[in-house]
This record gives sequence, C-alpha cells and structure tokens, in this order.
Amino acid sequence: MELLRVEHLSRYYGEGPAQVKALDDVSFSVEKGEFVAIMGPSGSGKSTLMHLLGGVDKPTAGHVWLQGTDLYKLDENALAIFRRRQIGLVYQFYNLLPVLNVRENLTLPLLLDGRNVNKNQLEQLAQILGIQDRMNHLPHQLSGGQQQRVSIGRALITSPALLLADEPTGNLDSKNSAEVMALLRYFHEKKGQTLLVITHDERIACQADRLITVEDGHIAQDEAVRP
Ligand SMILES: Nc1ncnc2c1ncn2[C@@H]1O[C@H](COP(=O)(O)OP(=O)(O)O)[C@@H](O)[C@H]1O
Ligand SMILES: [Mg+2]
Repeated sequence: MELLRVEHLSRYYGEGPAQVKALDDVSFSVEKGEFVAIMGPSGSGKSTLMHLLGGVDKPTAGHVWLQGTDLYKLDENALAIFRRRQIGLVYQFYNLLPVLNVRENLTLPLLLDGRNVNKNQLEQLAQILGIQDRMNHLPHQLSGGQQQRVSIGRALITSPALLLADEPTGNLDSKNSAEVMALLRYFHEKKGQTLLVITHDERIACQADRLITVEDGHIAQDEAVRP
C-alpha cells in the first residue's frame, strides 16, 4: 500500500541569478512499512526534502501526499495537527527541550494533542529505548546516544504514519550509532514503522530496503538494497 507520494516537488531559494534550486522536480513514492535510506553529497537537497516531507517548509511547486492527504493543501492549523499525529521527526542534534526531563520530553507530543499518557505504554517504551532509569533526568545529563533514543521515542509516541530522520547518527560514535540504528530497525521490523533516514553512513544505508541517492536537487538513483 502506498503511504507517501511525492510529485514534481521543487524548492527554490531566492530569486534571479542567485537562485538556488535546492530541490528540482523530484517524484517518488514509498510503501507502508518500507525503510528507505537517502544519501547524497552535502548541499544536494536532502534536508530540504525532509523538511518538505515533514510539512515544515513550503514547496515552490509540487505535491506531497501522506496517507492520501495533500499536505500543502491543508491550512496552517490543519497541517500542524496532521503533522503532530502522522509525522515523527528526528534530527542530528536531538532537539530535546532542555528544561523538561526525559519523561516530559517523551510525552509532550501526546499532551500537545490533548491525549492521555498510558503509564504502562510509557514504561514499555522507556524499556525499549533503554532509558527506564533516566526518566527524571534532564537532557544534558544524558549521553548523546541516550538523547537520540529519547528523541526517537518522542517522535514515535503518537504512532505516526511516517518517521523522518535527518542524519540521526551524525553526531554519535560508532557504538552509539549502532544502538540508535538497532532501535530504528526494531520499530521497522517489529512494529512495521515506515522509515525515511538520511545518512552519510553506508553501514546504515545497507540496512534499509531501498536506497535513494540525491544529487544536485535530483534523484540520481533509486534502487533496492540487497540483504
Ligand atoms: N534557507 C536557505 N536559504 C538559501 N539556500 C538554502 C537554504 N537552505 C538550504 N539552502 C541551499 O539549498 C541547497 C540544499 O541544501 P540542503 O537541503 O540543506 O542539503 P543537504 O541536506 O543535502 O546538505 C544547498 O545549496 C543550500 O545551500
Ligand atoms: Mg542536510
């Protein structure tokens, strides 16, 4: 089943001779349950693509459909609600709220959506994330790997249709990278989570089902990854 469809998506910055075509007429689709890795040189448009798929930017042209909803046809309010429920975002630098503890960071998306926190479910999630003994800590009291695991939990606590991660291991050593990747694979394999992961690391890309290579704002290659 098709989960995500991108059609003729472009994002230009600036105007005239200084205009940058960060993304230029990109089309592809992603099936529910797929794990897609996105690679490409620095400046090729990967983060621009992720922001457009995540509903946090506006395309110059083109469409993004997630579960049949045309994201940029929604008004600002409806888009904010849709994003909160259906899209999980993970960044290189975790973006946890520094004044909130781990439990509060994890449950914030539910509270913002007016939903109750199920204690058992939260406990189970903490265990999967391996941070059950850190729930009352502040982000700065955690290692980078732990912070990233919390940010993955926060992104997934609402059971979004799509998880987007932009270089989630870019700031981690190889041990912590492996732990973060194991966690993402767990959600993919055990929970059927659809994943789009931007990475520079071939060891990560080769764990995906499919590899999309972006060059110069275009898709240069889109191929199945052999197990
Ligand atoms: N806010 C912006 N204003 C102007 N140019 C931008 C902006 N964001 C990104 N760009 C340009 O768009 C291109 C793609 O950037 P980006 O999507 O961040 O690439 P990547 O994530 O692959 O490194 C680059 O040339 C970058 O300089
Ligand atoms: Mg980037």
